[in-house]
Amino acid sequence: MGAKDFSEIEDWPGYFNAVLGKGARDTLIAALDSFEAEGFAKGFAIDLAAGEGRDTLELLARGWCVLATDNHPEAFSYLWPRVPEPLKPLLTTREVSFCDMEFPGCDLVNASFALPFCEPRHFCALWDKIVASIRPGGRFAGQFFGKRDTWASIANRTHHSLEEVERCLQGFTIEMMREEERDDPPEVRNPKHWQIFHVVARKL
Ligand SMILES: C[S@@+](CC[C@H](N)C(=O)[O-])C[C@H]1O[C@@H](n2cnc3c(N)ncnc32)[C@H](O)[C@@H]1O
Repeated sequence: MGAKDFSEIEDWPGYFNAVLGKGARDTLIAALDSFEAEGFAKGFAIDLAAGEGRDTLELLARGWCVLATDNHPEAFSYLWPRVPEPLKPLLTTREVSFCDMEFPGCDLVNASFALPFCEPRHFCALWDKIVASIRPGGRFAGQFFGKRDTWASIANRTHHSLEEVERCLQGFTIEMMREEERDDPPEVRNPKHWQIFHVVARKL
């Protein structure tokens, strides 16, 4: 089984092991590069549903303070041993579910492949809290999954049309909106249709 199969059944330890050691997401890299291009190098980021911590490690390596959250009790046992000792004071981890999240003010909310796993009944409140936490000039980076994605039919997943994503991003300048829509090749185990919106947006 691969990362996709573990995500489908929400076997998160299986997922953490499958992706362990992979690099940071392109959306996070783009957001950080945009901050650096503005001369803003080291801020405070919330890494929402950080998982095993691939993006948190990149943020820490660039000198950011990070609040990494996830509701899986094993997530941070994959992260902490890989944080270099001098960077450990920059990191706080919190085991918390999307619906119970309290967001401090921040420069960046990073939600890589996280939002589709928020139950629909909690999504609006979660999104409102994300927006409120980002300072003007701060950024959101992450993925929304589209309604044509195979997983849209799984109960308790949150998928969006492009129009809905754009509505969420009112009040932001959209810096990246890359729609990925494709079928897995038939030889892949349990092939699926993917529709993903890769987003970086700067709050007005
Ligand atoms: C596909 S993984 C993404 C992990 C990481 N951000 C990445 O880019 O690889 C989804 C993550 O969402 C977390 N998650 C799922 N449901 C959650 C919930 N209700 N509250 C908080 N985290 C949740 C899982 O534990 C998992 O770490």
